[in-house]
Amino acid sequence: MTAFNTKNGVLHAENVALRDIAEQHQTPTYVYSRSALTETFKRFQAGLLGHEHLICFAVKANPSLAILNLFARLGAGFDIVSGGELARVIAAGGDPKKVVFSGVGKSHSEIQSALEAGILCFNVESINELHRIQQVAAKLGKIAPISLRVNPNVDAKTHPYISTGLKNNKFGVAFEDALDLYQQAAQMPNIAVHGVDCHIGSQITELSPFLDALDKVLGLVDALTERNIHIQHIDVGGGVGITYNDETPPEFATYTAAIMQKLAGRGVKVLFEPGRALVGNAGVLLTKVEYLKLGESKNFAIVDAAMNDLMRPALYDAYHNITTIAESPTQAQTYEVVGPVCESGDFLGHDRSLAIAEGDYLAIHSAGAYGMSMSSNYNTRARAAEVLVDGDQVHVIREREQIADLFKLERTLP
Ligand code: LLP
Repeated sequence: MTAFNTKNGVLHAENVALRDIAEQHQTPTYVYSRSALTETFKRFQAGLLGHEHLICFAVKANPSLAILNLFARLGAGFDIVSGGELARVIAAGGDPKKVVFSGVGKSHSEIQSALEAGILCFNVESINELHRIQQVAAKLGKIAPISLRVNPNVDAKTHPYISTGLKNNKFGVAFEDALDLYQQAAQMPNIAVHGVDCHIGSQITELSPFLDALDKVLGLVDALTERNIHIQHIDVGGGVGITYNDETPPEFATYTAAIMQKLAGRGVKVLFEPGRALVGNAGVLLTKVEYLKLGESKNFAIVDAAMNDLMRPALYDAYHNITTIAESPTQAQTYEVVGPVCESGDFLGHDRSLAIAEGDYLAIHSAGAYGMSMSSNYNTRARAAEVLVDGDQVHVIREREQIADLFKLERTLP
């Protein structure tokens, strides 16, 4: 079954017409497909069966409890970047022993809760963080498993805001320093060196940056072995891109085969941290056309979703395909698809040809990754509802926020 498919001119999520969801749950609403999530995960895993591996879903891409729970049931681990994400994974029934903890700013209390939960590995991003982890672990009488996140200085050829593997950004430790830092780590009484980690960026659509980075990592692993530091796992990070428009990212099978080929005969476990690739095309954002505003030089379709619901277009100039959910008798025109937020940057799509009338619904595609997770309450807008379709069932996995929720933590002065 195709997750999002058109039957008799009507767009469906699995067996449910999106119009029915819009009418029953209102808009804006994120709609995910269970079969898309499951099938995508299984497709990623298919190339890894027979090798010791762990797929650690990058929680930041979509931290919905229901989605984390679904992946946990499929055997996934998780890549987290905060104590909050750890709490979510645990609340969703994820196994902390399958969690890797990335991020440049881990606080004392985050390190403590990760040690108490017994996570699989800290992906350490600086020498000072290493010292901090040693200190917290010593206080708790625990041994902290670590990898160093090394920065291989390869160009991921993606948007600069989501490229992380180059020398001049804040992530990881410089490749040239890694050997020395590993030797220091190996001497620390409450640190156990378990792996090497590397993540070079996101929405990467070519294979070569991944392989260049892995070659450097393997060179490091060999140098460590010579110094009697034995690595149990290699974490190759996330970053595999998806098709939003006309991108042609590598197939999962091609990507995993190329990686496994480089690891052949090494006897190390391999960890992956995919986010977008597992969820991006498993979700759409449903929205309603509020107004059509026809102008001399531009026509605007003003919809009820905005940059606070889906920030990617405003932040990265990202493209998301936008379609109607049913055939319409109206004439197609070219529109700027914009939201109600008071910013010129509040757009969802430029120059889109759409046959629409006020009151029609639109689907904003490829919204399953970094959509809801980056949403905000800007302009005091309540966050969208989220539903997950499973065959002909629609499950509300997050209710629409109520306006009163938005200021319930606030106080006026006495
Ligand atoms: N591992 C680490 C350490 C990361 O920093 C990230 C993403 C991932 C894994 C997952 O990467 P993915 O497989 O999803 O590419 N908000 C941006 C993307 C930011 C990615 C940040 N790090 C966007 O909407 O495009």
